Amino acid sequence: VVRVQAIATTISNKIDTIPFEFIRPVTEQPALTTFTGPVPEIPTIDLSDPNTDNLVHTIAKISSEWGLFQVVNHGVPVDVIKRLQSVGKEFFELPQEEKEVYARPPNAMSLEGYGTKLQKEVAGKKAWVDYLFHNVWPPSHVNYKFWPKNPSSYREANEEYAQCLREVVDKLLVLLSLGLGLEGNVMREAFGGDDLEYLLKINYYPPCPRPDLALGVAPHTDMSALTILVPNEVPGLQVFKDDHWFDAKYIPNALIVHIGDQVEILSNGKYKSVYHRAIVNKDRVRISWPVFCSPPQDMVVGPLPQLVNEENPAKYKTKKYKDYEYCKLNKLPQ
Ligand code: SIN
Ligand code: FE2
Repeated sequence: VVRVQAIATTISNKIDTIPFEFIRPVTEQPALTTFTGPVPEIPTIDLSDPNTDNLVHTIAKISSEWGLFQVVNHGVPVDVIKRLQSVGKEFFELPQEEKEVYARPPNAMSLEGYGTKLQKEVAGKKAWVDYLFHNVWPPSHVNYKFWPKNPSSYREANEEYAQCLREVVDKLLVLLSLGLGLEGNVMREAFGGDDLEYLLKINYYPPCPRPDLALGVAPHTDMSALTILVPNEVPGLQVFKDDHWFDAKYIPNALIVHIGDQVEILSNGKYKSVYHRAIVNKDRVRISWPVFCSPPQDMVVGPLPQLVNEENPAKYKTKKYKDYEYCKLNKLPQ
């Protein structure tokens, strides 16, 4: 497999061209499709706000209008985030053959491992990114085979981050439940309670000679319940709202919360799964660390019965999460 990182180092910076398969159709090219007018800011939420009613109301509103927000004062210590970032960056800076030890086996059932491409894209286009996937929680789903041994603090840094993140996710699920007029524990329970699964991905976007033509990640919604992402200092995440692509600005140490498909389904469409993409940078490496929080494979997810009645019929099918995932990954109708 040819890694994008290898392509990026091979093509000289003086040549402003990229292989054909990385050139997006004009309807997707960032230079032609990024909103340049006065930018409505992607909302930021202070999670330490003691006024719970206000927090519930704000998060509910933003989750239905944007499906994405940044959170500050989230309780994850700055050092924990810094360590997560530095060990991930160190891994990707290792020589190629050391990374290949963790390569995702072709045709494996699981997404785990180091790799270059997850999905076939329309018109055979490729994204300017390499990645590493591994589960971080619950312990029964962790396979250390896919966790880098080098740097040696990789495991500790990732475990520490996962622990802190669980508290943030629990809090967000309570707030989102309250925002639907339900008891605080309803959403977490509907997603499997303590069995909620946490899958970490590191996206490594090498510098790209033509960031105007390429994409790091094609437009999509996440199939998870929630995705919590930390980026490095290079911006690149864009969100689609009101027919435009908006840049998410970089806020040091903030967490970026994505509403995923499962929350949209559970809320029967009150909350919106965010359509987003990632652009790349000409001179700088961009790295992001999304954690996908998803129900267990056999969990059945559908609109909450409390939210469905004759005036508000169910807008989504009820099905096992693994069946949803299968359709999504294979681009089949849900
Ligand atoms: C993704 O949605 O998979 C990546 C987003 C990002 O890198 O910011
Ligand atoms: Fe995503």
